Amino acid sequence: MKLTDNTILITGGSNGIGLELAKQFLNLGNTVIITGRNQLRLDEVKKKYPAIQIFQSDAGKVEDIKSLYDNVIKQFPGLNVIINNAGIMRKMNLHDTSMDLDNINQEIAINLSGPVRLVNQFLPHLKTKKFAAIINVSSGIAFVPFAISPVYSATKAGLHFYTQTLRIQLKNTNVAVFELMPPLTTTDLQNAFSPEDMKGVVSMEVDKMVQIAIKGFGNNTLEIRPGQSNSLRIISRIAPKFILNQMSKPVDRLLAETK
Ligand SMILES: NC(=O)c1ccc[n+]([C@@H]2O[C@H](COP(=O)([O-])OP(=O)(O)OC[C@H]3O[C@@H](n4cnc5c(N)ncnc54)[C@H](OP(=O)(O)O)[C@@H]3O)[C@@H](O)[C@H]2O)c1
Repeated sequence: MKLTDNTILITGGSNGIGLELAKQFLNLGNTVIITGRNQLRLDEVKKKYPAIQIFQSDAGKVEDIKSLYDNVIKQFPGLNVIINNAGIMRKMNLHDTSMDLDNINQEIAINLSGPVRLVNQFLPHLKTKKFAAIINVSSGIAFVPFAISPVYSATKAGLHFYTQTLRIQLKNTNVAVFELMPPLTTTDLQNAFSPEDMKGVVSMEVDKMVQIAIKGFGNNTLEIRPGQSNSLRIISRIAPKFILNQMSKPVDRLLAETK
């Protein structure tokens, strides 16, 4: 895809990977719009980077997606790229059934239903553009589940398959479909995890990960798997049981809590 003169909407752009994508795309000469739930955090980004446009919007809520569409299209009719980046990741002991039925579903609502709904809402508009792109941010975990984050793992595998089918169905259109599958990347997403949970996994710096991603978009690499994400894909095919065991190691400590 071309890397300049786009109008790009990034969900969850007030922190981590989304914010880094926003900064690097801005530097390349694009109009960048970000969303997030926390208005204070969005305001901080606006103060630091006045050229970035901000909209408070929850990717997990249907009404927010509809009003985001109305507001963004009205103010930025040139919008031609959407990046489904917003996501949460939780450690979850499935023996602990105290979480209510709405809460247990949050990762699905944000990480999986969010992108599916956003695409449905914006696709007719994207099809009116000469060039358009949808970029879904999944994870290397789409290839092998991380057993202490069961629902998160399910959302990323689901988003991976959804993205593949979306690409096939849009093959005769002007809308390119990219998938960014980050490896462990140094952001606040890791705060819920201990160093023990992530033992043996190398965390990539966010600016480096996003540089690789943007280079990939520019080269029209449709599935971008930086660093250990590519290793996970290969090992999951050669030695699926081995890698599943490796990724399941932190679960013993988690299960000990229920004893
Ligand atoms: N970091 C990693 O190791 C890693 C690896 C693989 C994939 N990923 C994926 O990369 C994406 C970004 O993660 P990150 O590491 O950058 O996380 P992060 O540092 O925690 O940032 C998450 C961003 O998403 C926003 N967000 C969360 N829930 C939202 C919602 N319901 N609606 C709108 N915005 C929401 C947050 O702002 P608010 O809280 O204010 O809403 C924040 O701006 C996620 O999809 C994640 O699964 C990350």
